[in-house]
Amino acid sequence: MKHLFSCALGSRLSRVISVASVNEILEDQGSWMGKILWVCDEHTRMYVPEGTDCVVLPSGEGAKRWDSIETILGKAAASGLGRDGKIIAVGGGVVCDLGAFAASIFMRGCAVSLVPTTLLAMVDASLGGKTGFDLFGMKNLVGTFHPAHEVYILAQSLRTLDDAEYRNGLGEVLKHAILSEDDRLATYLEENRGKLLSRDIVSMERMIVDSLKVKQSYVESDPTETKGIRDALNLGHTFAHALESVGNLTRFSHGEAVAWGVVKALHAGVSSHVTPVPFATRHEELIRSYGFDVDVTVSDRGRFFEALRHDKKKRASQVRFVLMEGQGRHLLQPLTQQQVMAVLGFSGVE
Ligand SMILES: NC(=O)c1ccc[n+]([C@@H]2O[C@H](COP(=O)([O-])OP(=O)(O)OC[C@H]3O[C@@H](n4cnc5c(N)ncnc54)[C@H](O)[C@@H]3O)[C@@H](O)[C@H]2O)c1
Repeated sequence: MKHLFSCALGSRLSRVISVASVNEILEDQGSWMGKILWVCDEHTRMYVPEGTDCVVLPSGEGAKRWDSIETILGKAAASGLGRDGKIIAVGGGVVCDLGAFAASIFMRGCAVSLVPTTLLAMVDASLGGKTGFDLFGMKNLVGTFHPAHEVYILAQSLRTLDDAEYRNGLGEVLKHAILSEDDRLATYLEENRGKLLSRDIVSMERMIVDSLKVKQSYVESDPTETKGIRDALNLGHTFAHALESVGNLTRFSHGEAVAWGVVKALHAGVSSHVTPVPFATRHEELIRSYGFDVDVTVSDRGRFFEALRHDKKKRASQVRFVLMEGQGRHLLQPLTQQQVMAVLGFSGVE
């Protein structure tokens, strides 16, 4: 067990700890005086210690709904969890978001620890305090800020993850390499591609820690997303969400869409004279070298622009894109339809 760093989010300090096994989590929790309820899904049950109180949810985004919260709260009440209790969520971003949300409202808030088991959850969903679930067909419509007491990085758990899910997380890591204040993560990704693609544990752990530290720097400066600093973490996501909508949310995985969206945001930055060409080229090459298809063409322009118009980051009826001025320096800028068309490789106006 190794304490990697602590992340300060308002008054809460989230300890980020690397563990080699679930037993090390039990050891670290040994001094916790209240009751503990574990939450996992059908694929991550194997990472929950035997003989513990546990809620097993169905897997996938479809489970990110109110009934799952009700199931967790029901089990918490039945197991006699008090305000001094703790929920330990073991799973991908879905289980982490659900477990943390339930903890944020149970008896007006109990403690939560997260054991992210997908790469995406390790580098993204586990740190920053955002919790939530989907409602009325809208993703994360309901949520709270409730940072974890502990985030346990069990890199071993990535060995059972399927390739598509691993690549989902790599998309976010490649994004963090651009947002990082220095190019250490980018260089590490360039120099260790083989080991990272073959999921060498030591190399993955280094990548996860470096990537988490990038997320830490943004969330610590803007714990409740009110200062515009955390917006940078949406780099590529405006394009990505629109692509996912065109692909009817099934044709493209989130990670593939993010990788494609990041490259489009780099191109948009270059054409707006914001992003230096060598910076954009380096990162596009890095993303391509990890096998992401960044040449996907948008088949349904009408739907793509409709999805852009509904983008969450729309303020004062303008969609603002995250553009990069260079390593770790972003700005939010609207783009005209012509600019977006040019980036997508279309000519003429829709
Ligand atoms: N709170 C945040 O800041 C934040 C940030 C990013 C994403 N998210 C949320 O995260 C969710 C996506 O997370 P995700 O991509 O991890 O998806 P997920 O939680 O659905 O996990 C993907 C699949 O992998 C399985 N799985 C998880 N760990 C496994 C393992 N070690 N071995 C085998 N199978 C495993 C799951 O059962 C599931 O089928 C979205 O709902 C998104 O809104 C939250």
